[in-house]
Amino acid sequence: MTHTLVYPITSGHNQAGHLELDGCDVVDLVREFGTPLIIYEEKTIRDQCRRYMEAMREHTADFEVIYASKAFSALAMAQLVLEEGLSIDVSSAGEYYVAKTAGFPSEHIFFHGNNKTREELEYALDGGVGFVVVDGFQELALVEELAADRGECQKVLLRITPGVEAHTHSYVETGLVDSKFGFGLADGVALEAIREALMAPHLDLVGLHAHIGSQIFRLDAFRKAIAILVELIGQAHASFGFDCRYLNIGGGLGIRYTEEDLPSSIGEYAAVKVEGVREEMSAMGLPMPRVLIEPGRSIVGKAGITAYRVGNIKEIPGIRTYVCVDGGMSDNIRPMLYGAQYSGMLANKAEAPADTVVTVAGKHCESSDVLIKDARIARPEPGDILVVPATGAYCYAMASNYNGTPRPAVVLVNDGRARVIIERETLADLVAKHRPLRDQPDRLMEPIGR
Ligand code: LLP
Repeated sequence: MTHTLVYPITSGHNQAGHLELDGCDVVDLVREFGTPLIIYEEKTIRDQCRRYMEAMREHTADFEVIYASKAFSALAMAQLVLEEGLSIDVSSAGEYYVAKTAGFPSEHIFFHGNNKTREELEYALDGGVGFVVVDGFQELALVEELAADRGECQKVLLRITPGVEAHTHSYVETGLVDSKFGFGLADGVALEAIREALMAPHLDLVGLHAHIGSQIFRLDAFRKAIAILVELIGQAHASFGFDCRYLNIGGGLGIRYTEEDLPSSIGEYAAVKVEGVREEMSAMGLPMPRVLIEPGRSIVGKAGITAYRVGNIKEIPGIRTYVCVDGGMSDNIRPMLYGAQYSGMLANKAEAPADTVVTVAGKHCESSDVLIKDARIARPEPGDILVVPATGAYCYAMASNYNGTPRPAVVLVNDGRARVIIERETLADLVAKHRPLRDQPDRLMEPIGR
């Protein structure tokens, strides 16, 4: 076994000198399913779920681990986390549909988003969604209206923006004062939101939520956010007798993309979150609520790898060598969007010394389409299989059809067996929703005021 710091837990080299995941040779997998190929290893996903459940259980009997499905939303993935006893968070009607289709009971679904549309909320409420995490005053009124129309009482949490710095990339920092998310604390806004929610006859305000950001290494940011949230809970308790039964403190635990990354462990993360809530609530003289956490990246990130085929290799003497692969920003936008760092290896030369420094570029029409700058790999040749590990979170989820690129296939491996969990898109899929110019009647649009 090797590489398990950033590769799935069962990865190793086989006798052919190839990279293997849980008994599946990656070279065989791409021969069977083509490239680019996203390969998830089931044991790592289940292992991460279990670590979270066990870590939380060590600190409290009253908790929920909620998988943030935006990291990778797929039927099979939702089914895996359901089997492991997690709840699920969805941030759109689309993710809700995936969770429901996977068989997730509605009462374990949390619906997030800073601009849920009326249609999305109607759809979720009609499906009996467990919890709506309300993000603003208009939404509060809208959920009240929709719940009243249905003669129901909807359980809600309020998303609070605690105004703490998470020390992560600014694009994934969500808890600051200047944020599109949630109710801020300044000028009593969050307190007013709690008051309004308590007064709404068709809303059952069960608690508060905060998610301060993603890929966070420093746990003290969570601790600060908890102190701020509990202070608000104390004020709302004193002012209107608010009883906070659920406290959802989001996801955000960072993972290792390269061996240099040093994130905290799930155990440390759970301890900071649960004991933080306990300390603050007891200092306030309030009972311990149910503690909810919402990990996404740290459940699936490490479980997935992406395998590409090497095509052209361009050497610019004295400058760099570009090794071009048959995917890129259409299946992993993270290096271009966040400056994310990855490592790589050649799956068919797993035992050869990694003695060549190259730049791994994609096939898209943009110079920014570089997956790894200065990757250290074995000497590459056209036809090699280049693997990028730790691509399980926010890669397929953010994939696009840029440059007319069908999305890759996704397979799940376990005990020497591989299952396709998302089929590769075809060229026909690219135009499946297009309509040719002369295929349908024109619609006459009446100008206003005519
Ligand atoms: N809960 C809420 C309300 C969230 O917005 C998120 C992530 C999570 C939980 C899960 O956070 P995690 O445990 O995965 O850090 N596309 C970016 C990440 C965006 C995260 C968005 N929200 C990336 O590729 O780094």
